[in-house]
Amino acid sequence: FDAVDLIRQKRDAGTLDTAQIDWLIDAFTRGYVGQEQMAAMAMAIFLNGMDRREIRDLTHAMINSGERMSFEGLGKVTTDKHSTGGVGDKITLPLMPLVASFGVAVPQLSGRGLGHTGGTLDKLEAIPGWRADLEPEEMTRLLREVGGVICAAGADLAPADKKLYALRDITGTVDSIPLIASSIMSKKIAEGTASLVLDVKFGGGAFMRDFDRARELAQTMVDLGRDSGVNTTALLTRMDTPLGLAIGNANEVRESLEVLAGGGPADIVELTVALAKEMLALAGQPDADVEAALRDGRAMDTWRAFVAGQGGDPDAALPVARETHTVYAETAGVLTRQDALPFGIAAWRLGAGRARAQDPVQHAAGVDLHAKPGDTVRVGDPLFTLAADEPARFERALEAVEGAFEISADAAGWTPPALIAEK
Ligand code: URA
Repeated sequence: FDAVDLIRQKRDAGTLDTAQIDWLIDAFTRGYVGQEQMAAMAMAIFLNGMDRREIRDLTHAMINSGERMSFEGLGKVTTDKHSTGGVGDKITLPLMPLVASFGVAVPQLSGRGLGHTGGTLDKLEAIPGWRADLEPEEMTRLLREVGGVICAAGADLAPADKKLYALRDITGTVDSIPLIASSIMSKKIAEGTASLVLDVKFGGGAFMRDFDRARELAQTMVDLGRDSGVNTTALLTRMDTPLGLAIGNANEVRESLEVLAGGGPADIVELTVALAKEMLALAGQPDADVEAALRDGRAMDTWRAFVAGQGGDPDAALPVARETHTVYAETAGVLTRQDALPFGIAAWRLGAGRARAQDPVQHAAGVDLHAKPGDTVRVGDPLFTLAADEPARFERALEAVEGAFEISADAAGWTPPALIAEK
């Protein structure tokens, strides 16, 4: 094949056949198809889309660019969750040990944050000693002994996707449904999980702001999973407002520990429980009493074994920032708006996130909310606290959240819309 012919074909809204897609992805992975050619192809796909067969072929070509993992010899049913990402989304932390405490194996490959969305591995690295890199044998041993791992994907898992995602990031071609669906699902199918629950977010702090587009993305990914033998379901959840009260790294671990101890913010508990039930249903335990495992300490026991298994000290103190700055309510009423994206950007500017992939994060930096939408506040009540090691960071974080929340004097009885919009 010739790359230019394939680019022209997609540019003119044609379809690519299986052999063409296989060749393209293989040649791109090996460097025979250049970055500029693949960038043009990504833009052609962005503009003209792909049909279901093309998306499936693209996904399989990306899986075949690397190694496929298998947990068939484990003797346990496997299940996993993927969230399309949002502000304050630490759900993996309480969810993995909760599900694993029912004897199911959870091989959770996770990523690091870039920009305003945090990364699960960055959050866990706030725990002294904890490490994200596991050898394949270690991963299998921990899945057998603890029931779950949360670790970085190896370099050989869908390498074509790593290369293509980096290219999409700098060419304005990230938010395309065929490209997102094939990117996410190639990694999840290559990971070798038997079942998968997707938490597809919509709203101002999500990848897909629009509900209908999020639903289309969810359906595309569910079809892809099922076509590949991974039993896949999806929840559509709202990401207009941060999840929980903590946005950062160490503070998100703290909040996750509250959930594992049977407490924690209502929205985090609701989503953790809903996703756990969905995962356990796919793993053959539709009647699992998930709430009981949070109440009676089983999920916490699994968490402690998981942290220790990956080199961390479950009893170590988490880092605390040197400086804080609290913002207080200047008017009274009901908090009716608290926009996720500006609060995510504020946490990022405080040092909790990174601007470039190679930058370190500051584990103690972040934002702690004191009120959530629907709460009544009085004048002088604390609304949120910024935490950073360098006080010079407060000004730009405060700029980010300017106008990002609203207190309404005449909104008595107002309640926020449901978190889980559709299952
Ligand atoms: N996450 C991914 O892994 N890939 C995408 O394309 C978007 C989000």
